[in-house]
Amino acid sequence: MSVSNAVLLLLSGVNLNLLGTREPEIYGTSTLEDHVQVARTQANMAGYDLEHLQTNFEGVLVEAIQAARNTAAAIIINPGAFTHYAWSIHDALAAFDGPVVELHLSDPKKREVWRHVSVVEPVSIATVSGEGGPGYARAVEIAVEAIKGTSAKNNS
Ligand code: DQA
Repeated sequence: MSVSNAVLLLLSGVNLNLLGTREPEIYGTSTLEDHVQVARTQANMAGYDLEHLQTNFEGVLVEAIQAARNTAAAIIINPGAFTHYAWSIHDALAAFDGPVVELHLSDPKKREVWRHVSVVEPVSIATVSGEGGPGYARAVEIAVEAIKGTSAKNNS
């Protein structure tokens, strides 16, 4: 099967379906759909389509990452709390050839100690965290730059 260069895959993990009403003092009042729209607009401006999947199930994320090996040029992932312990997601991302960008609304490194570990970070070219909604556009920008080969590792 040929690999499409035109699709970016945005993955949203556990509890992100609640954005808008979930702890708004931490995550803001925008919904996940709002953030997806920001990411899609940024992708389209760069000439890419953006596909999005949200799931509360670790295995569903793993299957989506596996399927992306044949369909997506890059993955942008906010795994939610899976970030901190789901090594199956680390392994699936490690088997993905394209660039992976880790994304968080908040900055987990400035929160509870258990959030300081990210199992996704070692397989990502960059982490965008603590930027709220605009971080979705920034993450797409980094993914596109990486696909085009104009960006080295860029942790923000
Ligand atoms: C989050 C940070 C995680 O620690 C948390 O479990 C989430 C959201 C973020 O976007 O800030 O669910 O990924």
